Amino acid sequence: MADVERPGADEFLPEKRDLRSLRAAAPDCRGCELYRDATQVVFSAGRAGAPLALVGEQPGDREDLEGEPFVGPAGRLLDQALEAAGIDRGDVYVTNAVKHFRFHRQGKRRIHEKPAVGNIVACHPWLEAEFAAVRPRLVVCLGATAARSVLGRPARIQEERGRVQESAEGRPVLVTTHPSALLRLRDDPGWDAAFDAFVGDLERAAKAAADLAAD
Ligand code: URA
Ligand code: SF4
Repeated sequence: MADVERPGADEFLPEKRDLRSLRAAAPDCRGCELYRDATQVVFSAGRAGAPLALVGEQPGDREDLEGEPFVGPAGRLLDQALEAAGIDRGDVYVTNAVKHFRFHRQGKRRIHEKPAVGNIVACHPWLEAEFAAVRPRLVVCLGATAARSVLGRPARIQEERGRVQESAEGRPVLVTTHPSALLRLRDDPGWDAAFDAFVGDLERAAKAAADLAAD
């Protein structure tokens, strides 16, 4: 059951479900409590028909201020990895499992907090409507929050990463790590291998999307 704080996004979705209508309706969503403290909704970037949909966790501090997904440090790393994988940014639709920034304050700083399962569930109708409008061949989940939303169950990223499976709604999905998790390894001896593994997953995703197109 949805609790009072989190009725879910369903009733805030517009009747018309193309990307433009969805984007226009999202700022009015009150499907969970996160809209209250965030600066704005961060919807998505990219076009309908993009073969790959990349799903992150939620907007970060920078994204919350700018209103665009993946424009902060994690976004720069994602761009680098996409380039290394030979994937054109124009071929990816980029969005998040949760569309408002969840954080707490520490002095002047806003500290990221993982979305609760209740936030993920509340926000899921947006994601599903986006997939229906964009019709990607493959959905790439960046990390556990995205996987929880898209697969509809908890996932172990390191065990499940890099292979094509099916979402709760029957969509082809590939799970990989989140670029923020990678960022934390930047000065580690394991950095090169971790970055290469991420690029490898993105390459597999692009190939799977191309193979699915040929079917
Ligand atoms: N991390 C995410 O998961 N999404 C963003 O948009 C930015 C950082
Ligand atoms: Fe609506 Fe999602 Fe924002 Fe919650 S996080 S208010 S469900 S858009």
